[in-house]
Amino acid sequence: MISAAADTQEEHFSQPVGEPTSLTDLPKTVRPVRSNPNRKKVLFVTSELADLVKTGGLGDVSAALPRAMAQLHDVRVLIPGYPQVLDSDNPIHIIGELGGHAALPPCKIGRMDLKDGLVIYVLICPELYEREGTPYGANNGRDWPDNHIRFARLGLAAADIAANLAQIHWCPDLVHAHDWPAGLAPAYMHWRGSRTPTLFTIHNLAYQGVASLASCPELGIPEHALQQEGMEFYGKLSFLKAGMAYSSHITTVSATYAREITTPEFGCGLDGFLSSKTQQGLLSGIPNGIDESWESSTDPHLTHPFNIGDWEGKALNAAHVRNLFGLHDSTGPLFAVVSRLVYQKGLDLTEAVTNFIVESGGQIAIIGRGEPEEEQAMRALALRFPGHVGVRIGFNETDARRMFAGSDFLLMPSRYEPCGLSQMYAQRFGSLPVARNTGGLADTIEDGVTGFLFDESTIESYEAALRRAFKVFAFPGLLNAMRCRAMAAPFNWCQAVEPYAELYEQLVAKALGKSVK
Ligand code: ADP
Ligand code: GLC
Repeated sequence: MISAAADTQEEHFSQPVGEPTSLTDLPKTVRPVRSNPNRKKVLFVTSELADLVKTGGLGDVSAALPRAMAQLHDVRVLIPGYPQVLDSDNPIHIIGELGGHAALPPCKIGRMDLKDGLVIYVLICPELYEREGTPYGANNGRDWPDNHIRFARLGLAAADIAANLAQIHWCPDLVHAHDWPAGLAPAYMHWRGSRTPTLFTIHNLAYQGVASLASCPELGIPEHALQQEGMEFYGKLSFLKAGMAYSSHITTVSATYAREITTPEFGCGLDGFLSSKTQQGLLSGIPNGIDESWESSTDPHLTHPFNIGDWEGKALNAAHVRNLFGLHDSTGPLFAVVSRLVYQKGLDLTEAVTNFIVESGGQIAIIGRGEPEEEQAMRALALRFPGHVGVRIGFNETDARRMFAGSDFLLMPSRYEPCGLSQMYAQRFGSLPVARNTGGLADTIEDGVTGFLFDESTIESYEAALRRAFKVFAFPGLLNAMRCRAMAAPFNWCQAVEPYAELYEQLVAKALGKSVK
């Protein structure tokens, strides 16, 4: 710790004393290091890490993937020193300093060793990162106006570390950058002529980190970058495009989304650019997994941990959730929403089908945080259906886990979903997702076996899937068979480790001019 007391992500709700307050409190397995003659040093550049600070799935992936990879490669994480990071109860030792560049201020590099051995490099720059709020904005949901500077500094720090300018006695063989906040890492490296290979992972194409061309001097962006093959995007600068344009390879987080983003419907204006990357073999999809803390029989967050088949145990969790959300006692199905409250997630569709759900005997528990208008719409929904719809505006890991455990169904009518983790968590806890047939939802839900998929972003299509869910709920034998299949679905990081490891090795070999298998 270089500064004061511990804090949690669950600022909106009080925690019962003695309960786990973050993922850090959950047991983690330190995997034995497998002997790998190709072991590489990899710098993982991210704006979230669930142990310390999380707004969505990127935080989960940043916490889980480096740990899963540790058996094969030495993966270390670089993250900005937000208050949530500095005030965690892990000591930070200052190990390096970096000079400024253009309007990007100088900063320090701290090293934090998490209890299970994961090494975190913390970018310490009080004027950029030590603010109350989320990584991206104030608690009122508005983005910080200087995000281009804040995250350019993150990208530049990664490039500095790769160029050994930080003198931290560890220099990566490869830099793996995630989403627009880390998009300038490959770019600064490329502009400096670095030979270290870079991998850029798109977790969400719709968030592009766009800044005005007038910011070029502040960010030290060279003029030749302002072209279609560079980071120019409709007369602006796009951090996301920079990540894609200047990295050695691009991945995204499911096979279906990798295909979808090459189409106009999902490509956010970048489909042509991404199609050409696919044709060159430079874009691939590697699905996310879920970590071992998602185990319903041992999760310390649950009031009633339960095994597959223990449906009475599951019902006790449902009773807890009904109580927590002020819902009436009921023998009908309990639906859950655990979501960022943003357009992507289709909350307006859920709002539109709520009457149908309630009239059919269902109830809905909703937890979320996001755009002020969406938050307001959810509050209004609870007022329209007292006792049937309960809403909590906020971010609370414990409640989320209890909701996956207590609900019968998870509602996820996303307009697009690069991978989605909530639907995997729900399945693991015996809650069947009712979800749009898109992206990672299509890849991780077996329609009619582990959940219910619908094709169109329309009320009719959604209601048809809900009708099927209600039918299954009426037949406990069928419902329980689906729960068993969902809980046993093989979601873990194993399937991602090999493809990432192979990619790391190929990219490093290629950069060294060695033949690639
Ligand atoms: P996204 O990254 O687009 O938000 P994912 O499904 O991949 O979607 O990941 C969302 C993650 O954030 C999951 O771990 C989910 O449980 C969690 N989450 C979302 N909203 C909340 C909330 N209000 N409280 C607690 N956890 C939440
Ligand atoms: C993004 C996506 C989500 C994905 C997560 C982690 O936030 O919206 O689908 O699961 O990143 O990759």
